[in-house]
Amino acid sequence: MSLIYEPEEDSYLLSETLKKQIKNKKLKVLEIGIGSGIQLETLNELGVTAIFGVDINKDAVKLCLKKGFNCAVSNLFSKVEGKFDLIIFNPPYLPEDKREDEESKLATTSGEKGSELINKFLNQAEKYLSKKGKIFLLTSSLTKGINWKYWKKKKIAEKKLFFEKLFVWKLNK
Ligand SMILES: C[S@@+](CC[C@H](N)C(=O)[O-])C[C@H]1O[C@@H](n2cnc3c(N)ncnc32)[C@H](O)[C@@H]1O
Repeated sequence: MSLIYEPEEDSYLLSETLKKQIKNKKLKVLEIGIGSGIQLETLNELGVTAIFGVDINKDAVKLCLKKGFNCAVSNLFSKVEGKFDLIIFNPPYLPEDKREDEESKLATTSGEKGSELINKFLNQAEKYLSKKGKIFLLTSSLTKGINWKYWKKKKIAEKKLFFEKLFVWKLNK
């Protein structure tokens, strides 16, 4: 049994952002890293029906399948097919902490700078976006070394916490 990420400040910030930003229920949405399913539940509440979610953690996928969502085990896009109008991702974004155990690392940290998985995501996402498709990506002031490549970015949400600031970026090509 792997640890499933319990919703935290980052989860709530992304969820609130979805509520503010999504006006069109007909969007085809992909979530990478579904965890407990909080964002899938928000999309569902907003009336969005074309939702697909993936996570590398099979227990998270099992839980979300049980909740009735369409989802699969996948390392980033490895099991994703087709194109989406919106891709959302609340990734592991913290620099690796050697003291943290392997299970919780999977949901919270990514490499020395915190940006390893984000950079892989930014390299692969384009192929899965429809022509006018957008990405909502959450990052932290503690995440270093993000390579934004050709993505145009706009900050659409921000939250100051005691020790860090969280951001949600809207990206498009
Ligand atoms: C910060 S949690 C976010 C969970 C949930 N979306 C939320 O907002 O609370 C990051 C999630 O990404 C998943 N994850 C980590 N590496 C992944 C990868 N390579 N491919 C897909 N999902 C991954 C983790 O298992 C975890 O569920």
